[in-house]
Amino acid sequence: MVTSQSMPHGPWDVEYFKANGLYFHLVEVTEIAPGSARVHVKDRGEMLMFGSYSYLGLIGHPAINAAAHAAIEAFGTGTNGVRLLAGTLPLHNELEASIAAFKGAEAAIAFASGYIANISTIAALLDRHDTVICDKLDHASIVDGCLLSGAKMVRFRHNDLEQLEERLEKADARHRKMVIVDGVYSMDGDIADLPGIKALCTQHDALLMVDEAHSLGVLGATGTGIEEHFGLPADTIDIKMGTFSKAIPSVGGFVAGSAEMVTALKHKARGFIYSAALPPASAAASIAGLQVIREEPERVRSLQHTFGHFLTTLKAAGFDVLSSQAAIAPIICGTPELATRLMMHCVDHGVFVQAILPPVVPAGLARLRATVTANHTIEDIDHAVDVMTAGARKLGIL
Ligand SMILES: Cc1ncc(COP(=O)(O)O)c(C=O)c1O
Repeated sequence: MVTSQSMPHGPWDVEYFKANGLYFHLVEVTEIAPGSARVHVKDRGEMLMFGSYSYLGLIGHPAINAAAHAAIEAFGTGTNGVRLLAGTLPLHNELEASIAAFKGAEAAIAFASGYIANISTIAALLDRHDTVICDKLDHASIVDGCLLSGAKMVRFRHNDLEQLEERLEKADARHRKMVIVDGVYSMDGDIADLPGIKALCTQHDALLMVDEAHSLGVLGATGTGIEEHFGLPADTIDIKMGTFSKAIPSVGGFVAGSAEMVTALKHKARGFIYSAALPPASAAASIAGLQVIREEPERVRSLQHTFGHFLTTLKAAGFDVLSSQAAIAPIICGTPELATRLMMHCVDHGVFVQAILPPVVPAGLARLRATVTANHTIEDIDHAVDVMTAGARKLGIL
Protein backbone atom coordinates (compact mmCIF):
# COMPACT_ATOMS: atom_id res chain seq x y z
CA MET A 1 0.00 0.00 0.00
CA VAL A 2 1.25 3.48 -0.80
CA THR A 3 1.22 5.73 2.24
CA SER A 4 2.16 9.36 2.64
CA GLN A 5 5.28 8.18 4.52
CA SER A 6 6.44 6.05 1.58
CA MET A 7 6.13 8.93 -0.85
CA PRO A 8 9.21 11.07 -1.36
CA HIS A 9 7.41 14.41 -1.24
CA GLY A 10 4.20 13.72 0.70
CA PRO A 11 0.98 12.56 -0.93
CA TRP A 12 0.40 15.61 -3.10
CA ASP A 13 3.91 16.96 -3.80
CA VAL A 14 3.39 20.25 -1.95
CA GLU A 15 6.64 19.85 -0.02
CA TYR A 16 8.42 19.25 -3.31
CA PHE A 17 6.95 22.48 -4.75
CA LYS A 18 8.12 24.40 -1.68
CA ALA A 19 11.62 22.91 -1.73
CA ASN A 20 12.11 23.61 -5.45
CA GLY A 21 10.85 27.15 -5.78
CA LEU A 22 7.70 25.92 -7.55
CA TYR A 23 5.25 26.99 -4.85
CA PHE A 24 2.74 29.55 -6.15
CA HIS A 25 1.91 32.69 -4.24
CA LEU A 26 -1.39 33.97 -5.59
CA VAL A 27 -0.96 37.74 -5.47
CA GLU A 28 -4.17 39.70 -4.84
CA VAL A 29 -4.82 42.70 -7.08
CA THR A 30 -7.15 44.74 -4.87
CA GLU A 31 -7.90 47.69 -7.13
CA ILE A 32 -7.59 48.57 -10.80
CA ALA A 33 -7.39 52.02 -12.34
CA PRO A 34 -9.21 51.80 -15.70
CA GLY A 35 -7.21 53.43 -18.48
CA SER A 36 -3.94 53.14 -16.56
CA ALA A 37 -1.28 50.44 -16.27
CA ARG A 38 -1.26 50.89 -12.48
CA VAL A 39 -2.93 48.52 -10.02
CA HIS A 40 -3.08 48.18 -6.26
CA VAL A 41 -1.68 44.96 -4.87
CA LYS A 42 -2.38 43.58 -1.39
CA ASP A 43 0.46 44.36 1.03
CA ARG A 44 2.39 46.22 -1.70
CA GLY A 45 0.32 49.22 -2.71
CA GLU A 46 0.41 50.76 -6.18
CA MET A 47 2.38 48.87 -8.81
CA LEU A 48 3.06 49.23 -12.51
CA MET A 49 1.51 46.18 -14.15
CA PHE A 50 3.71 44.18 -16.54
CA GLY A 51 1.89 40.87 -16.16
CA SER A 52 -1.52 41.56 -17.70
CA TYR A 53 -3.20 39.80 -20.63
CA SER A 54 -5.55 42.75 -21.07
CA TYR A 55 -3.49 43.78 -24.09
CA LEU A 56 -5.75 46.60 -25.20
CA GLY A 57 -6.22 47.93 -21.68
CA LEU A 58 -9.98 47.34 -21.83
CA ILE A 59 -10.61 46.09 -18.28
CA GLY A 60 -12.99 48.62 -16.74
CA HIS A 61 -13.86 50.29 -20.08
CA PRO A 62 -17.15 52.15 -19.40
CA ALA A 63 -19.03 50.84 -22.46
CA ILE A 64 -18.04 47.25 -21.65
CA ASN A 65 -18.97 47.61 -17.98
CA ALA A 66 -22.32 49.14 -19.00
CA ALA A 67 -23.06 46.23 -21.35
CA ALA A 68 -22.34 43.73 -18.56
CA HIS A 69 -24.58 45.64 -16.12
CA ALA A 70 -27.42 45.79 -18.66
CA ALA A 71 -27.14 42.03 -19.29
CA ILE A 72 -27.43 41.33 -15.57
CA GLU A 73 -30.48 43.59 -15.34
CA ALA A 74 -32.11 41.79 -18.28
CA PHE A 75 -31.09 38.18 -17.68
CA GLY A 76 -29.60 37.87 -14.18
CA THR A 77 -26.26 36.32 -13.36
CA GLY A 78 -26.62 32.75 -14.63
CA THR A 79 -28.31 30.79 -17.39
CA ASN A 80 -30.84 27.98 -17.39
CA GLY A 81 -28.17 25.40 -18.04
CA VAL A 82 -26.33 24.12 -21.07
CA ARG A 83 -26.88 25.75 -24.47
CA LEU A 84 -28.58 22.68 -25.98
CA LEU A 85 -31.27 22.60 -23.34
CA ALA A 86 -32.51 25.92 -21.91
CA GLY A 87 -29.24 27.87 -21.72
CA THR A 88 -29.16 29.78 -25.02
CA LEU A 89 -29.85 33.52 -24.78
CA PRO A 90 -30.00 36.04 -27.65
CA LEU A 91 -26.65 37.26 -26.27
CA HIS A 92 -24.99 33.94 -27.10
CA ASN A 93 -26.18 34.02 -30.70
CA GLU A 94 -25.18 37.67 -31.00
CA LEU A 95 -21.73 36.92 -29.57
CA GLU A 96 -21.19 34.09 -32.07
CA ALA A 97 -22.29 36.30 -34.97
CA SER A 98 -19.99 39.11 -33.74
CA ILE A 99 -16.91 36.94 -33.44
CA ALA A 100 -17.60 35.28 -36.81
CA ALA A 101 -17.79 38.74 -38.43
CA PHE A 102 -14.66 39.93 -36.59
CA LYS A 103 -12.69 36.89 -37.78
CA GLY A 104 -14.15 36.94 -41.30
CA ALA A 105 -15.61 33.46 -40.85
CA GLU A 106 -18.97 31.95 -41.81
CA ALA A 107 -19.84 31.00 -38.24
CA ALA A 108 -18.54 30.66 -34.69
CA ILE A 109 -19.23 28.77 -31.48
CA ALA A 110 -18.63 30.11 -27.96
CA PHE A 111 -17.35 28.03 -25.06
CA ALA A 112 -17.02 28.70 -21.33
CA SER A 113 -13.26 29.32 -21.61
CA GLY A 114 -10.40 29.19 -24.08
CA TYR A 115 -9.12 26.06 -22.38
CA ILE A 116 -12.48 24.34 -22.91
CA ALA A 117 -12.64 25.60 -26.51
CA ASN A 118 -9.33 23.91 -27.30
CA ILE A 119 -9.86 20.59 -25.57
CA SER A 120 -13.45 20.22 -26.79
CA THR A 121 -12.75 21.22 -30.38
CA ILE A 122 -9.68 19.08 -30.96
CA ALA A 123 -11.31 16.07 -29.28
CA ALA A 124 -14.47 16.54 -31.35
CA LEU A 125 -12.79 17.00 -34.74
CA LEU A 126 -10.18 14.22 -34.55
CA ASP A 127 -10.23 10.52 -33.72
CA ARG A 128 -7.68 7.78 -33.15
CA HIS A 129 -7.06 7.25 -36.88
CA ASP A 130 -6.02 10.87 -37.44
CA THR A 131 -2.66 12.62 -37.02
CA VAL A 132 -2.29 15.92 -35.20
CA ILE A 133 0.96 17.85 -35.60
CA CYS A 134 1.79 20.53 -33.02
CA ASP A 135 4.50 23.12 -32.55
CA LYS A 136 6.57 22.20 -29.46
CA LEU A 137 5.58 25.45 -27.76
CA ASP A 138 1.82 25.06 -28.27
CA HIS A 139 -0.29 25.93 -25.24
CA ALA A 140 -1.13 23.25 -22.65
CA SER A 141 -4.82 23.28 -23.62
CA ILE A 142 -3.87 22.24 -27.17
CA VAL A 143 -1.72 19.42 -25.84
CA ASP A 144 -4.56 18.27 -23.56
CA GLY A 145 -7.04 18.39 -26.46
CA CYS A 146 -4.74 16.28 -28.62
CA LEU A 147 -4.35 13.68 -25.87
CA LEU A 148 -8.11 13.60 -25.32
CA SER A 149 -8.79 13.13 -29.04
CA GLY A 150 -6.80 9.87 -29.14
CA ALA A 151 -5.23 10.98 -32.46
CA LYS A 152 -1.59 10.21 -33.15
CA MET A 153 0.16 13.30 -31.79
CA VAL A 154 3.52 14.40 -33.16
CA ARG A 155 5.39 17.60 -32.48
CA PHE A 156 7.85 19.69 -34.47
CA ARG A 157 10.58 22.02 -33.21
CA HIS A 158 9.30 25.52 -32.54
CA ASN A 159 8.54 27.30 -35.84
CA ASP A 160 10.78 24.81 -37.72
CA LEU A 161 9.05 24.36 -41.07
CA GLU A 162 11.50 21.76 -42.32
CA GLN A 163 10.60 19.47 -39.47
CA LEU A 164 6.89 20.26 -39.93
CA GLU A 165 7.22 19.12 -43.54
CA GLU A 166 8.86 15.86 -42.47
CA ARG A 167 6.04 15.24 -40.01
CA LEU A 168 3.42 15.92 -42.70
CA GLU A 169 5.14 13.58 -45.15
CA LYS A 170 5.09 10.76 -42.61
CA ALA A 171 1.45 11.21 -41.54
CA ASP A 172 -1.07 8.58 -42.64
CA ALA A 173 -2.59 10.01 -45.82
CA ARG A 174 -5.70 7.81 -45.53
CA HIS A 175 -6.93 9.81 -42.54
CA ARG A 176 -7.26 13.40 -41.39
CA LYS A 177 -4.15 15.49 -40.71
CA MET A 178 -4.32 18.63 -38.63
CA VAL A 179 -1.56 21.15 -37.85
CA ILE A 180 -2.08 23.25 -34.72
CA VAL A 181 -0.02 26.33 -33.83
CA ASP A 182 -0.35 29.40 -31.62
CA GLY A 183 -0.62 32.77 -33.40
CA VAL A 184 1.64 34.51 -30.86
CA TYR A 185 3.49 32.20 -28.48
CA SER A 186 2.58 32.91 -24.88
CA MET A 187 6.02 32.41 -23.35
CA ASP A 188 8.23 33.77 -26.16
CA GLY A 189 6.11 36.46 -27.86
CA ASP A 190 7.08 35.35 -31.35
CA ILE A 191 4.67 34.85 -34.24
CA ALA A 192 3.91 31.62 -36.11
CA ASP A 193 5.14 31.63 -39.72
CA LEU A 194 1.60 31.46 -41.05
CA PRO A 195 2.38 31.81 -44.78
CA GLY A 196 4.91 28.96 -44.65
CA ILE A 197 2.74 26.75 -42.46
CA LYS A 198 -0.31 27.32 -44.68
CA ALA A 199 1.66 26.45 -47.82
CA LEU A 200 2.73 23.13 -46.26
CA CYS A 201 -0.81 22.36 -45.09
CA THR A 202 -2.16 22.99 -48.60
CA GLN A 203 0.55 20.85 -50.16
CA HIS A 204 -0.13 17.96 -47.77
CA ASP A 205 -3.91 18.33 -47.57
CA ALA A 206 -3.85 19.08 -43.85
CA LEU A 207 -6.29 21.17 -41.83
CA LEU A 208 -4.85 24.20 -40.05
CA MET A 209 -5.92 25.32 -36.58
CA VAL A 210 -4.47 28.47 -34.96
CA ASP A 211 -4.90 29.50 -31.32
CA GLU A 212 -5.22 33.29 -31.40
CA ALA A 213 -5.40 33.77 -27.60
CA HIS A 214 -2.46 36.20 -27.74
CA SER A 215 -2.85 37.53 -31.29
CA LEU A 216 -6.44 38.76 -31.27
CA GLY A 217 -6.36 42.51 -30.62
CA VAL A 218 -2.56 42.37 -30.88
CA LEU A 219 -1.73 41.58 -34.52
CA GLY A 220 -2.90 43.30 -37.69
CA ALA A 221 -3.63 46.97 -38.32
CA THR A 222 -7.13 46.61 -36.82
CA GLY A 223 -6.29 43.85 -34.35
CA THR A 224 -8.21 41.04 -36.04
CA GLY A 225 -5.23 38.74 -35.73
CA ILE A 226 -2.58 36.78 -37.56
CA GLU A 227 -4.19 36.61 -41.02
CA GLU A 228 -4.42 40.40 -41.10
CA HIS A 229 -0.82 40.67 -39.85
CA PHE A 230 0.44 38.68 -42.85
CA GLY A 231 -2.05 40.17 -45.34
CA LEU A 232 -3.54 36.71 -45.95
CA PRO A 233 -7.19 36.07 -46.82
CA ALA A 234 -9.64 35.38 -44.01
CA ASP A 235 -10.05 31.74 -45.04
CA THR A 236 -6.36 30.89 -44.58
CA ILE A 237 -7.01 29.21 -41.23
CA ASP A 238 -9.60 26.42 -41.15
CA ILE A 239 -10.15 26.44 -37.40
CA LYS A 240 -9.73 29.86 -35.77
CA MET A 241 -9.62 29.55 -32.02
CA GLY A 242 -9.36 32.36 -29.49
CA THR A 243 -10.39 33.57 -26.06
CA PHE A 244 -12.55 36.30 -24.60
CA SER A 245 -10.24 36.56 -21.60
CA LYS A 246 -7.27 38.55 -22.89
CA ALA A 247 -7.56 41.54 -25.26
CA ILE A 248 -11.33 41.19 -24.75
CA PRO A 249 -11.87 41.73 -21.02
CA SER A 250 -14.28 38.94 -20.20
CA VAL A 251 -14.17 35.16 -20.02
CA GLY A 252 -14.93 32.45 -22.58
CA GLY A 253 -13.45 30.94 -25.70
CA PHE A 254 -14.47 30.60 -29.34
CA VAL A 255 -13.87 28.70 -32.53
CA ALA A 256 -14.69 30.30 -35.89
CA GLY A 257 -14.64 28.75 -39.34
CA SER A 258 -16.97 27.17 -41.87
CA ALA A 259 -20.66 26.89 -40.97
CA GLU A 260 -20.44 23.13 -41.39
CA MET A 261 -17.49 22.76 -39.02
CA VAL A 262 -19.21 24.95 -36.41
CA THR A 263 -22.44 22.94 -36.74
CA ALA A 264 -20.43 19.75 -36.24
CA LEU A 265 -18.91 21.23 -33.07
CA LYS A 266 -22.37 22.12 -31.76
CA HIS A 267 -23.25 18.42 -32.10
CA LYS A 268 -19.99 16.87 -30.96
CA ALA A 269 -17.96 19.18 -28.70
CA ARG A 270 -18.46 17.87 -25.19
CA GLY A 271 -17.48 21.17 -23.57
CA PHE A 272 -20.40 22.75 -25.44
CA ILE A 273 -22.91 19.97 -24.86
CA TYR A 274 -22.16 19.18 -21.23
CA SER A 275 -21.13 22.53 -19.73
CA ALA A 276 -23.29 25.52 -18.81
CA ALA A 277 -23.70 28.49 -21.13
CA LEU A 278 -21.58 31.61 -20.62
CA PRO A 279 -23.11 33.94 -18.02
CA PRO A 280 -25.03 36.86 -19.59
CA ALA A 281 -22.63 39.51 -18.27
CA SER A 282 -19.62 37.71 -19.78
CA ALA A 283 -21.29 37.26 -23.17
CA ALA A 284 -22.39 40.91 -23.25
CA ALA A 285 -18.93 42.14 -22.20
CA SER A 286 -17.36 40.14 -25.05
CA ILE A 287 -19.77 41.58 -27.62
CA ALA A 288 -19.05 45.09 -26.35
CA GLY A 289 -15.30 44.38 -26.27
CA LEU A 290 -15.32 43.40 -29.95
CA GLN A 291 -17.21 46.58 -30.77
CA VAL A 292 -14.73 48.74 -28.84
CA ILE A 293 -11.82 47.17 -30.74
CA ARG A 294 -13.57 48.11 -33.99
CA GLU A 295 -14.36 51.65 -32.81
CA GLU A 296 -11.03 52.42 -31.12
CA PRO A 297 -8.36 51.00 -33.46
CA GLU A 298 -5.90 53.51 -32.01
CA ARG A 299 -5.56 51.12 -29.05
CA VAL A 300 -4.11 48.45 -31.35
CA ARG A 301 -1.67 50.95 -32.86
CA SER A 302 -0.69 52.23 -29.43
CA LEU A 303 0.01 48.69 -28.15
CA GLN A 304 2.13 47.88 -31.20
CA HIS A 305 4.08 51.15 -30.91
CA THR A 306 4.66 50.90 -27.16
CA PHE A 307 5.66 47.25 -27.36
CA GLY A 308 8.14 48.06 -30.14
CA HIS A 309 9.67 50.69 -27.86
CA PHE A 310 9.83 48.16 -24.98
CA LEU A 311 11.70 45.61 -27.11
CA THR A 312 14.12 48.19 -28.51
CA THR A 313 14.87 49.55 -25.04
CA LEU A 314 15.36 46.09 -23.52
CA LYS A 315 17.72 45.10 -26.34
CA ALA A 316 19.64 48.38 -26.03
CA ALA A 317 20.12 47.64 -22.32
CA GLY A 318 21.65 44.29 -23.32
CA PHE A 319 18.82 41.89 -22.45
CA ASP A 320 18.24 38.67 -24.40
CA VAL A 321 14.57 38.73 -25.45
CA LEU A 322 14.76 35.70 -27.80
CA SER A 323 12.77 36.34 -31.01
CA SER A 324 9.90 38.23 -29.38
CA GLN A 325 7.76 40.30 -31.76
CA ALA A 326 4.42 40.99 -30.10
CA ALA A 327 2.97 41.96 -26.70
CA ILE A 328 5.03 39.49 -24.64
CA ALA A 329 8.73 39.96 -23.90
CA PRO A 330 10.74 37.08 -22.43
CA ILE A 331 13.62 38.60 -20.46
CA ILE A 332 16.10 35.76 -20.15
CA CYS A 333 17.81 35.39 -16.78
CA GLY A 334 19.20 31.82 -16.98
CA THR A 335 18.70 29.99 -13.71
CA PRO A 336 15.45 29.87 -11.74
CA GLU A 337 17.23 31.59 -8.86
CA LEU A 338 18.29 34.56 -10.99
CA ALA A 339 14.82 34.90 -12.51
CA THR A 340 13.18 34.79 -9.10
CA ARG A 341 15.64 37.31 -7.65
CA LEU A 342 15.17 39.71 -10.56
CA MET A 343 11.41 39.39 -10.19
CA MET A 344 11.68 40.22 -6.47
CA HIS A 345 13.88 43.23 -7.29
CA CYS A 346 11.21 44.48 -9.73
CA VAL A 347 8.39 43.85 -7.26
CA ASP A 348 10.31 45.69 -4.52
CA HIS A 349 10.61 48.64 -6.91
CA GLY A 350 6.92 48.72 -7.81
CA VAL A 351 7.01 46.76 -11.08
CA PHE A 352 4.62 43.78 -11.18
CA VAL A 353 6.18 41.12 -13.39
CA GLN A 354 6.30 37.33 -13.22
CA ALA A 355 9.20 34.89 -13.30
CA ILE A 356 8.63 31.83 -15.49
CA LEU A 357 10.69 28.82 -14.52
CA PRO A 358 11.39 25.31 -15.87
CA PRO A 359 9.57 23.01 -16.52
CA VAL A 360 7.23 25.62 -18.05
CA VAL A 361 10.22 26.88 -20.10
CA PRO A 362 13.41 24.96 -20.99
CA ALA A 363 16.21 24.62 -18.43
CA GLY A 364 18.65 27.53 -18.69
CA LEU A 365 15.94 29.84 -20.05
CA ALA A 366 14.24 30.89 -16.80
CA ARG A 367 12.96 34.40 -17.44
CA LEU A 368 10.81 37.32 -16.56
CA ARG A 369 7.80 37.39 -18.82
CA ALA A 370 6.69 40.97 -19.27
CA THR A 371 3.52 41.95 -21.12
CA VAL A 372 2.66 45.39 -22.43
CA THR A 373 -0.82 46.85 -22.83
CA ALA A 374 -2.28 49.85 -24.63
CA ASN A 375 -2.45 51.56 -21.23
CA HIS A 376 1.34 51.75 -20.81
CA THR A 377 2.96 55.08 -21.58
CA ILE A 378 6.49 55.43 -22.94
CA GLU A 379 7.45 56.77 -19.48
CA ASP A 380 6.04 53.61 -17.84
CA ILE A 381 8.11 51.48 -20.20
CA ASP A 382 11.31 53.46 -19.66
CA HIS A 383 10.86 53.34 -15.89
CA ALA A 384 10.33 49.55 -15.89
CA VAL A 385 13.37 48.93 -18.11
CA ASP A 386 15.47 51.12 -15.77
CA VAL A 387 14.32 49.04 -12.80
CA MET A 388 14.99 45.76 -14.63
CA THR A 389 18.40 46.94 -15.83
CA ALA A 390 19.53 48.02 -12.36
CA GLY A 391 18.42 44.67 -10.91
CA ALA A 392 20.01 42.65 -13.71
CA ARG A 393 23.34 44.48 -13.28
CA LYS A 394 23.28 43.86 -9.53
CA LEU A 395 22.63 40.16 -10.10
CA GLY A 396 25.20 39.81 -12.89
CA ILE A 397 22.58 38.98 -15.54
CA LEU A 398 23.85 41.97 -17.55
C1 LIG B 1 -2.33 30.22 -26.02
C2 LIG B 1 -3.46 30.03 -25.05
N1 LIG B 1 -4.51 29.29 -25.43
C3 LIG B 1 -5.56 29.06 -24.60
C4 LIG B 1 -5.59 29.61 -23.34
C5 LIG B 1 -6.76 29.35 -22.46
O1 LIG B 1 -7.61 30.44 -22.45
P1 LIG B 1 -8.58 30.77 -21.23
O2 LIG B 1 -7.77 31.46 -20.18
O3 LIG B 1 -9.64 31.62 -21.82
O4 LIG B 1 -9.12 29.45 -20.74
C6 LIG B 1 -4.52 30.40 -22.90
C7 LIG B 1 -4.55 30.98 -21.54
O5 LIG B 1 -3.69 31.62 -21.05
C8 LIG B 1 -3.43 30.61 -23.77
O6 LIG B 1 -2.38 31.34 -23.39
